[in-house]
Order: sequence, then structure tokens, then C-alpha cells
Amino acid sequence: NPVAPCDFVVFGGTGDLAVRKLLPALYLRDRDGQLPAETRIIAASRAGLDHVGYRDKVRGELGRFLDADALDPLTLDRFLARLHYASVDAAAPDEWDQLLQLLDQPTDRVRVYYLACAPNLFGPISRHLAAHNLVDETCRVVLEKPIGHDLASARDINDAVGSVFDESQIFRIDHYLGKESVQNLLVTRFANTFLEPLWNSSWIDHVQITVAESLGVGSRAGYYDQSGALRDMVQNHLLQVLCLVAMEPPTCIDRESVRDEKLKVLQALKPLSHNDVGTLAIAGQYVAGLVDGAAVPSYRDDAENPDSLTETFVALKAEVRNWRWSGVPFYLRTGKRMEHRSSEVVIQFKPVPHPMFPGSDGDAEPNKLVIQLQPEEGMRLFMTAKEPGPGGIRLKPVSLDLNYVNAFQRRSPDAYERLLMDVVRGDPTLFMRRDEVEAAWAWVEPMLVAWRAQERGPRRYPAGTNGPFEATTLLERDGRTWHEGA
Ligand code: BG6
Repeated sequence: NPVAPCDFVVFGGTGDLAVRKLLPALYLRDRDGQLPAETRIIAASRAGLDHVGYRDKVRGELGRFLDADALDPLTLDRFLARLHYASVDAAAPDEWDQLLQLLDQPTDRVRVYYLACAPNLFGPISRHLAAHNLVDETCRVVLEKPIGHDLASARDINDAVGSVFDESQIFRIDHYLGKESVQNLLVTRFANTFLEPLWNSSWIDHVQITVAESLGVGSRAGYYDQSGALRDMVQNHLLQVLCLVAMEPPTCIDRESVRDEKLKVLQALKPLSHNDVGTLAIAGQYVAGLVDGAAVPSYRDDAENPDSLTETFVALKAEVRNWRWSGVPFYLRTGKRMEHRSSEVVIQFKPVPHPMFPGSDGDAEPNKLVIQLQPEEGMRLFMTAKEPGPGGIRLKPVSLDLNYVNAFQRRSPDAYERLLMDVVRGDPTLFMRRDEVEAAWAWVEPMLVAWRAQERGPRRYPAGTNGPFEATTLLERDGRTWHEGA
């Protein structure tokens, strides 16, 4: 169904996020008839273009970021005609004339300010919007992650934006929550009966959450070198996935119930002491290696910073201290330049209480549910079966496989397509609330502090591998191993 007519004002409208994610997502929503005729997309940036120059640029970029069969000339012309450009220095309020002209007329279009720029600009832009009388109670503001670089800066940003916008108008985006596969975690758990009775420390041995990327930092080294994997991925995406795996069933899927339950998980995470960080959290950085058979340079070369101590890999062991999860470790792992692009949640069940098949070849392997988030969305339930044969009983692990593309025969929309439409609809359920963001920062902060104080820096791992050996040891110490799915 079409959403309400809207003005999307994108600060950072010529930047990497806008061209790679936001504009392709809006184009696809337009193609599917979800954007009413009056909807406009206004890019604000310092690139000094004009409307025509911006449309030309976007025409070229869409070709790079969308499949050729998604682009049809009629939709493309209609979409490009929605685009406007305002040359704006976000930090200098007296250089906003072009934007003010575009937003001059009173309108009943929903106005969305999308801040696809550095987080230190979130506060100043909000204040300038208010000073120019561009904010009323119908406006929405979207904040890209990371919100700040630690707890204190996140609080400052939240205070600054919160002094202009009400919390109900603030949409803190974590695109992992918009992924079909991540939302499906909720459905798997709460729209089926057979898993939930087993979803606790009586039956589950441990949980693994891996988000592995084979790409390096690409053109984003400037940002990434100041950020690192803990801020870029763990504080937000991995902890959000952990929350969906660990949370209690909300009464219903509405804007506050889901977020209330996620917050309780974040608050139940056992705080890491300085000493814990040394044993329970591993930082790594890739050196030159081979990815898919091709030689790739080290992170320090990619970042053009020969002394960089920024981590491109994190593995850690977390504990959720509550009745359901007591004693069940959650192992998290993420990294750039790993062997494969593969994100998954692994629920490892406990072994059978008593071996029933003595003399059989092999033991019954503990059951394992692997929820594959990407690149392919699916689910595999590993069970033990009898291998066919006339002799005795031979145990063999087999898997029940569900592949979503095959099951539903349709494309999964990109996370931004869903989330951008939720902003226009005014539904913040899949966005992070202030208290969640701050609880997540509070939990990762001991790692930030400990790693900053460390002289030796992150452990090295060759590009194209699954991280430093200390990440393997982290589990081996507990008698466990990482599931290497891809
Ligand atoms: C972004 C990070 O939030 O997520 C990137 O800033 C990372 O560094 C990306 O590559 C991963 O997203 P996806 O959807 O490709 O898994």
C-alpha cells in the first residue's frame, strides 16, 4: 500500500550511505508503487551540485547498486524527477538558503530528516532545523548508527536531538532489524510452539552469533579507523540480534513491548570487568592474505595508517544473567576480510542425557539449529538419524533444511526498504530506543577502555581466515568449537 506523501530530506545526500543504500531502497519502493506522486527526495550536502547534476549522478549510481532488471526507464524517470538538491553546510546555519527555499511552502507531506552524516552533526543539525522553524510535531528524524563513539557522547547526542524532537519522533536506525531474516527470528520463536519450551538453559548448551564479512573496509577507512568492529558492528547489530534471540515473549509486537523486552536483555548482560576483557574479549586486525584466491592488502595498508591499532575483528563471550539463560554462554564474533560472507545464529542444544546406542559407530551429536541470516536466508536443524543398513545401528548426523527463497519464491526486500517506509508510517518498533542504545554502549565500554590502554593492540590474522587463533581458544577453553557454516 502507498505510504503518505513525504519529503525525505537527506543530510549527506551525496555520501556513501545515500547512494549505496537509501536511494536504491527508495527507488525500489517507488517501482512497487509505494511512493505517492507528491513525494520528494531532497539531498542536502556540501557537494555543490544543482538539481540536474544530482539527478545525473544518481542515474549513474543506481546502475551500480541495483540489478539491471530492477531498472526500467519509466520508473527511473519518475524517480529522478522526485530528486532535488540543496547545497548546505550542515554545520553553518547561515548557509541553508537553498534548503529553506525548497521547504518554504506549507505542506501536509510527512517530513523526514534523514541524518546520513557523522554523528557529531546530529545535534547541530537538529538545532539548526529548529532555529529555521523547520520542526513541528509531525516531523521525524532518522539517526544512523553509530550514535556517538562511547556512552558519554551517545548521551550528549541523545540530549541534543531530544531537545528538539520528542523521543516518538526519533528513529535510530539499525539496519539489521530491517533484515527479513532478523525479523524472522521473532517469528520462528514466537509463531511456533515447538521451539520455545526448549529455548532456555535446561536444553540449550550455548549460542553463537557470527557476522562474518569477506570484504575489507573499502572506501570507508576514514570512518572505520576511528571506529573499529566493536563500535561498528557489536554495539549495535550483534547486540540487537542477541536481544532477539534472548528476549522474553512480548505481549504483542508493538512499538514499546518489543523494545522493552530487548532492553531487559541488555540490562541483564553481565558487565565485563577490566580483567574479564583480557580473557573474554578478543580484538583482531587483518594482515595481507588471500580472499577467494586473490591477494589482498593488510588493514593498515587499506587504512593508509601504518600504526593503526583499530580492530577489524571481535570475538567475545557474553552472559545473560536471568532465569532463562543462567549459565548459557553467548559467543559473538564479527570481522572484516574473513573467509566467507556468512551471518548466522547457532543454537547448540545439550547432548542427550544418556547414550542409548552403545556399540554403535559414533555418538549422537547434540542437536543444533543454525539460523542463516545471510548471504542466503535459511534454517538448518541438525539431528541424529540411523544410517540405513542391515548391520547394527549406526548413528549419522543429518539436517532438515529450509531455504526461504525456494520456500517463498520471492525476493527479500533490502532492510532499508522496510525501515524507510516504517519511518513514513511512524512505526518505530524496528528502531532502537534511546535507553537501548545507551545500555548497549554501557556494556561495550569496558572493552573500549581496556583496548585503548593496551599497548600491543589487536591480534593479527591473515585476511581470508576466521580471525586470530585466540578466538578459537576462547571456545576451546570451554570444550566448544565455532560452527563454520559456509
Ligand atoms: C554497517 C557497517 O552498519 O553494516 C559496515 O557500518 C558493515 O561496516 C555493514 O559492512 C554490514 O551490513 P550487511 O547488511 O552487509 O551485513
